[in-house]
Amino acid sequence: MIKLPLKNIFILTGAGISAESGIATFRGTGGLWNNYRIEDVATPAAFNKNPSLIWEFYFERIDKIRKSKPNDGHYAIKKLISLSKNIHLITQNVDDLHEKAGIKNVIHMHGDIMTAFCPKCKKKYSVTRIKRPLPMCKQCDSILRPNVVWFGEKPIYLEKIYNLLTKSSVFISIGTSGNVYPAAEFHLIAKSLGARTVFINLEDTGIQSDLFFLGKAGIILPQLFDKWISKGYIEFNK
Ligand code: OAD
Repeated sequence: MIKLPLKNIFILTGAGISAESGIATFRGTGGLWNNYRIEDVATPAAFNKNPSLIWEFYFERIDKIRKSKPNDGHYAIKKLISLSKNIHLITQNVDDLHEKAGIKNVIHMHGDIMTAFCPKCKKKYSVTRIKRPLPMCKQCDSILRPNVVWFGEKPIYLEKIYNLLTKSSVFISIGTSGNVYPAAEFHLIAKSLGARTVFINLEDTGIQSDLFFLGKAGIILPQLFDKWISKGYIEFNK
């Protein structure tokens, strides 16, 4: 048995953490990519071709997210993170539910749907302060774009993320299908550097890990993290 203290933890979340808040995942039943083609709504080429259509799609998602509330899974992560400044949260999600649960310094590697930016002068705007249906930059009159990473673009904060991975002794993956790189290989990097891995998912993705919990994050995380917090460590078989 190995007991690891509750620090130097790298938490990666995906769409599954927000599913119980009513926000659709990307893949699987009810997934966003069943109803939309990635190349129509999530690529720079699609935006250049028809920015109005892209903004219609994003405004619909923004409105949905603004009405959504964090669930017990988000709050459980907040409780764990509050234990140490060496527990880091990296999310592939563009929603703000981790922040609404009270977590600061969330690393949004795929961007943040609540902001937009000007592709020309890079000025950033809160989506609450942009004009519909087609938002324009007040500085240079260009069409703004959502501040999200599209297919074919590089995720943000990668240098910081790889640095955190090297310092992690525990890697926790919550609600991600492992289909999108580079996030899909973070656990392999952490493992190769000696970290133990923990996966929580509604389905068995077949990914090898030291601990795996099958079920809803909103049910599993509060129980699991409270157990770890009361013991003061995470126990692994080897
Ligand atoms: P996916 O939709 O690919 O996967 C969501 C995962 O969450 C699946 O494995 C589900 O089984 C699981 N899940 C669903 N509900 C759950 C729950 N209540 N508790 C626990 N797990 C649950 O979403 P991501 O893996 O996040 O990228 O997708 C990765 C990236 O692909 C996204 O960030 C997005 C997308 O295209 C960009 O937009 C760049």
